[in-house]
Amino acid sequence: MDVDQLAAIWPPFGLRLTCGPLVMRPMRDSDFPEVLAVAHAGIHDPDAMPFSFPWTDPKGTEFEREFLRFHWGQRARLKPEHWSLELGVWHEGRFVGVQGVDTHDFSVTRTGETGSWLGQEFHGRGIGTLMRQAICVLCFDHLGFEEITSGAFADNPASLAVSRKVGYRPNGETRVARKGELAINRGLVLSPADLVPGPPVRAPGHG
Ligand SMILES: CC(C)(COP(=O)(O)OP(=O)(O)OC[C@H]1O[C@@H](n2cnc3c(N)ncnc32)[C@H](O)[C@@H]1OP(=O)(O)O)[C@@H](O)C(=O)NCCC(=O)NCCS
Repeated sequence: MDVDQLAAIWPPFGLRLTCGPLVMRPMRDSDFPEVLAVAHAGIHDPDAMPFSFPWTDPKGTEFEREFLRFHWGQRARLKPEHWSLELGVWHEGRFVGVQGVDTHDFSVTRTGETGSWLGQEFHGRGIGTLMRQAICVLCFDHLGFEEITSGAFADNPASLAVSRKVGYRPNGETRVARKGELAINRGLVLSPADLVPGPPVRAPGHG
C-alpha cells in the first residue's frame, strides 16, 4: 500500500496546507525524530508553564514517550463526533512546531479550540501568528466551523497577542490550578467575520 492509498483510508494523512513560507500537515511516525529534537531543545522558559496540562515537565525518555503517546492517542481517537487535528508546521522546510484544533460533538457544535507551540528558537518571528491564521482559514473555509475558541494564561503575552492579532475576542476568565497554584486562564472566541487572515491558504482537495 502506498502513501496515497493510506490517505484514502485515513483522510487526515491527505491534508496538506500551505500559507506563505509554511507547510502544515499531520505528522507521520517518520517525522517524529525531527519533531522530538525541536521539542527537546525547549518550548518555553523552564520557570514558565503556558500549558494547562504540564506536558513539558517530564525529562528525557519519559518526555519523549509521553509526547508520542499523546500524538498517537489523538490520531487513534479521531472519529466524526470527537476529533482533533494536530498539524506539524514546517517553515522554509524546517520543522518548527505544532498547531492543533480540538473538537467535541462537532457535527452539532461546529466549534473547536485551537492550541499551539513552537520550538523556542522560532519564537517572535511571526510564525505563531501565521500558523494560527492558516488553521482558522482551514476551519472556517474548508471544515464548516462557525466559531473557534482558544485560551491562554494571563502571563502568556505572546499567545494572547497572537489571538488578538488574528481577531479573537475576550470570552471570560477562569480560575484554574496550575501546578498547585492559582492561575487565570483568559478565554477567547473568534467568529468568521472577525478573522484577520494572513497570506492565502492552499488546501488541495479541501474545496
Ligand atoms: C505562543 C506562540 C505559539 C506564539 O508564537 P510566536 O511565533 O512567538 O508569535 P508571533 O511572533 O507571531 O507573535 C508574538 C506576538 O506576541 C508579542 N509578545 C511576545 N512577548 C510579549 C510580551 N512579553 N509582552 C507583550 N507582547 C509580547 C509580540 O510582540 C508579537 O506581537 P507583534 O507581532 O504585534 O509584535 C509561541 O510563543 C510559543 O510556542 N510559546 C510557548 C508555547 C505556548 O505558549 N503555547 C500556547 C499555549 S496557550
